[in-house]
Amino acid sequence: MNKINIALVGATGLVGTMFLKILEENNLNIGNIRLFASKKSKGKKIKFLNQYYEVEELDSSSFDNTDFIFFSAGKDVSSKYASIAEKKGIVIDNSSCFRQEKDIPLVVPEINFSDIDLTKRKLIANPNCSTIQCVMCLNVIKKLYHLNKIVYSTYQAVSGSGTKGIFDYQSSLEGYPKEFYPYDISKNCIPQIGDIKENNFTEEENKMILETRKILHLPFLEVYSTCVRVPICYGHGVSVYVETEEDIEIDNIIALMKNSKGIVYQEIPLTENINNNDVYVGRIRKCNHNSLMFYCTSNNIRKGAAGNAFQIIKKIIEENLLFK
Ligand SMILES: NC(=O)c1ccc[n+]([C@@H]2O[C@H](COP(=O)([O-])OP(=O)(O)OC[C@H]3O[C@@H](n4cnc5c(N)ncnc54)[C@H](OP(=O)(O)O)[C@@H]3O)[C@@H](O)[C@H]2O)c1
Repeated sequence: MNKINIALVGATGLVGTMFLKILEENNLNIGNIRLFASKKSKGKKIKFLNQYYEVEELDSSSFDNTDFIFFSAGKDVSSKYASIAEKKGIVIDNSSCFRQEKDIPLVVPEINFSDIDLTKRKLIANPNCSTIQCVMCLNVIKKLYHLNKIVYSTYQAVSGSGTKGIFDYQSSLEGYPKEFYPYDISKNCIPQIGDIKENNFTEEENKMILETRKILHLPFLEVYSTCVRVPICYGHGVSVYVETEEDIEIDNIIALMKNSKGIVYQEIPLTENINNNDVYVGRIRKCNHNSLMFYCTSNNIRKGAAGNAFQIIKKIIEENLLFK
């Protein structure tokens, strides 16, 4: 079997670190791995599979001889380097840079892996963290009923803002003045994630709306969202209201959730200590003859980011799409 060469951009960040951990947990036949971060991390040593690798600074030759390039260093870095990387290997981009581009697939492997066509584009976008866990559950309901309307209310951990979010939360807890969030995150749930846009929804809310439609292949689905940053470190929770075309049978939905790969049914899904790629769903209850609510949780750094990306890579390898 051919060895796989990987480049990881954003190797010192929360998502990059998790990506390395997931690679260590799995048995990919890795040949070479190159780690990239910003100038300030150049030369830093990172241990991976009992060997130390030096962090490098990015340039346009960084992607030579790589099969997969994983970007998790923000939008600006992706917009500058992802298309250069796409000429060398398969790119999985974790930023929001390309998610709405028509010819770039936005993929949750359990739902729409077949949107990937490597003969057309070798760039695959990894969706927004809170969206991934919701569409995993909605896709189950979509197998039974036509979806008419979705309303999300999120409870998103500070790790969703990266290393700066965790740092600001922890230092605010210790009484230091806030440095990153607009309000003291140790004492508040903040109902604004990202800038407020023209439609009065925030950047994060718009991501959830647009990405839900794209992943589920429902371009006209009515979707609304309120995104809230909450003072916990890891794990997002989302309350989801769903309206369907037909009358619903809650027991059928619960039964199918219980039988769906990647979903774990729990009466009360919590966010603490989720160390896998599963989405936890519970509190499933009927509101009206054609509406229901549920609550779901997942590890935003794993299924919400590095884990989903790893699943895409693994499936590409398993389906022999890499060396075709
Ligand atoms: N955290 C989440 O839950 C989550 C979920 C989904 C998607 N994402 C997305 O994933 C990306 C990374 O998130 P994160 O949480 O890992 O953030 P983070 O902890 O702040 O890490 C950012 C990473 O990007 C690197 N970086 C910054 N500027 C760079 C440059 N000019 N060139 C190369 N590398 C550079 C940083 O390197 P230095 O250490 O050298 O600064 C660091 O490795 C973002 O696009 C974010 O939106 C995050």
